[in-house]
Amino acid sequence: METLINVLILAAGLGTRMKSRRAKVLHRAGGMPLIEHVVGTALELAPPGQVTVVIGHQAEEVRQAVARYGVRFALQAEQRGTGHAVMAAREALRGAGGLLVVLYGDCPLLRAETLRRLVELHQGSGAAATVITTVLEDPTGYGRILADAEGNLEAIVEEKAATPEQRAIREINSGIYCFEATLLWKHLDEIGNDNPAGEYYLTDIIAIFRRHGYKVRTFRLEDSLQVLGINNRIELAAADRILREAKLREVLLAGVTVERPETVTIDRPVRIGIDTLVEPFAQILGETSIGENCRIGAGAIVRDSRLGDGVEIGPYTIVNRSVLEDGARAGPFARLRLENHLEAGAAVGNFVELKKARLGRRSKALHLAYLGDASIEEQVNIGAGTITCNYDGVAKHPTTIRRGAFVGSNATLVAPLEIGEGSYVGAGSVITEPVPAEALALGRARQVVKEGWARRRRERLGAARAEVGGSTAADSAARPASAPETPRSG
Ligand code: UD1
Ligand code: MG
Repeated sequence: METLINVLILAAGLGTRMKSRRAKVLHRAGGMPLIEHVVGTALELAPPGQVTVVIGHQAEEVRQAVARYGVRFALQAEQRGTGHAVMAAREALRGAGGLLVVLYGDCPLLRAETLRRLVELHQGSGAAATVITTVLEDPTGYGRILADAEGNLEAIVEEKAATPEQRAIREINSGIYCFEATLLWKHLDEIGNDNPAGEYYLTDIIAIFRRHGYKVRTFRLEDSLQVLGINNRIELAAADRILREAKLREVLLAGVTVERPETVTIDRPVRIGIDTLVEPFAQILGETSIGENCRIGAGAIVRDSRLGDGVEIGPYTIVNRSVLEDGARAGPFARLRLENHLEAGAAVGNFVELKKARLGRRSKALHLAYLGDASIEEQVNIGAGTITCNYDGVAKHPTTIRRGAFVGSNATLVAPLEIGEGSYVGAGSVITEPVPAEALALGRARQVVKEGWARRRRERLGAARAEVGGSTAADSAARPASAPETPRSG
């Protein structure tokens, strides 16, 4: 029979050294909260029903961050140390024998492969516990490993409690352990809080096991980076950089061209298809998926969005929680603010803002427009400067524009409103009433032309100036030599 493996992740602490009002494990690296990285790793070792997260500080927020994975939670109402946090999970894990792998929620670079090796090594060893250790150039802040040459562990001493000689030890405790569960639960309460911090240190269990004559082993990891514990924002920035570099390598090896990759930000959950081009300073964030052969322009920000194949996002365009089907185009300088959907071949151009707008196949709004709460069918042309007036100061209202309609430049569409199939809206119109299919709607003042008015005005002003001493050089430079052309209508 296979050994039962439970994983316990300690994530109840505040993280004082972060100097933050937010719980440490909620801080993000590689575009994901620290705790989410650790839960993801744990889930490669055990199913969600066997992964328990100890929460306490900002318990609800931490729970929310990972609840969707279906893991279990235990509450540590007061945070009195890592040993105390394990005690808080006793109820949740009662009766579970087998192995208990304990991890800390501030260790985002750990790989599942390492956990599997830990379990393998432990199982053959006959030890009560196996601890992952590593040797650091600068071990400051970590618990130090007191072990013999064969890797038999005697004790872990925390920095605060260590003697100067112990502090000189460079082999440190990673905070990742594999325990024989029954032995851990049997002796856990022997951990006291008689130390400078007055905390219940989980690390004290090692000396306790030794006192009872159990063997404890170390598993010394060469790759120290994996066990980097995030305690301050310098370490957070370091973890972020490592995670992003790893993501970039993954994306490049998967067939994506990234120009000046050191300037590009790609979050860990992002997926990108082959032959897509990502230009400098682009940011691709959150749960975004991008198809093949797309272009993400310089400085564009794409977040939580789904892009099909051959989609083009021009430079400095923001796409948030939106869907762009195959061949759709947005930007440069467009803002797809929230929940938009561009069907295949639809296009929005510069200085167009969309909010909850849907554009049907091959519909276009190429310049200077705001389209909000708008449902636009296929092959519609939205002229430059078109505005949907979707908000009356109290409620939002929808605009529907049917297939093949042509909305002239600078139209003001006062919602709720429907513009019929194949109809025209004259440029500069304020449209407040429904427009029937195939109609032309005009809602603007009729143009008036007064022949010769400008010339007469200049002559009148000239005569008046002459009376008070003649016009200055600046006056004559400011006005055209001949009468202006009659303005054309839009
Ligand atoms: C801990 C270890 C240290 C090790 C280092 C590795 C102890 C006593 N020390 O120190 O030996 O070298 O990790 O990174 O275990 N937590 C709770 N409840 C609490 C206190 C902490 O859930 O009451 C959680 C925190 O949220 C955090 C984790 O436990 O995710 C570790 O706590 P932290 O304060 O970061 O311990 P370190 O000082 O780093
Ligand atoms: Mg830590």
